[in-house]
Amino acid sequence: MKMKKATKKDLLKMLEIIKTNNPKYPKQLVHKELKEMFSESLLRPTYFVAENKKEIVALGGFISSWVDNAVFNIFWMNTNSKYQKQGIGTKLMKELINQIKKQKKPKSKIILISTEIPKFYKKFGFKKINSRYDGNYLLMEKRLK
Ligand SMILES: CC(C)(COP(=O)(O)OP(=O)(O)OC[C@H]1O[C@@H](n2cnc3c(N)ncnc32)[C@H](O)[C@@H]1OP(=O)(O)O)[C@@H](O)C(=O)NCCC(=O)NCCS
Repeated sequence: MKMKKATKKDLLKMLEIIKTNNPKYPKQLVHKELKEMFSESLLRPTYFVAENKKEIVALGGFISSWVDNAVFNIFWMNTNSKYQKQGIGTKLMKELINQIKKQKKPKSKIILISTEIPKFYKKFGFKKINSRYDGNYLLMEKRLK
């Protein structure tokens, strides 16, 4: 299993995984969110993928905040349903956290995520900030020293 930065060639497979896992989310919007990595925007997301024998099996992205370089979001963590619960999401999350650690100053950073499955993120030290402000979604943070 290889973790690597996504390329344009990976986009369709990434889109397919998100579409299958999140059938209610508008497909066109996901496509825009993924393509944004390769845009000219000042603030672009970075997506990483897990590749198993040349097949993209999972993805996750991060982006820094417009207002503060210390704040990052992680989002679109998704593993192909055939490959879930095999540790791939864990490897990918560790990669994303490491990538965020390596980003330029400041050294201390805060990662924010919004999720319906806090159990998955607690494993990496994320803590609840507030409860269910958006349906079943929970805002969580992890501080990097
Ligand atoms: C969440 C997700 C990315 C995890 O990926 P994965 O490759 O299955 O992750 P792992 O195999 O490394 O699992 C890590 C742990 O999270 C737990 N976990 C995974 N999915 C879970 C879920 N839906 N609910 C509760 N716990 C879950 C696993 O049981 C495992 O716990 P353990 O280490 O104590 O056994 C994957 O389930 C997924 O794509 N879900 C659908 C999309 C989604 O909801 N994404 C999150 C958006 S915030």
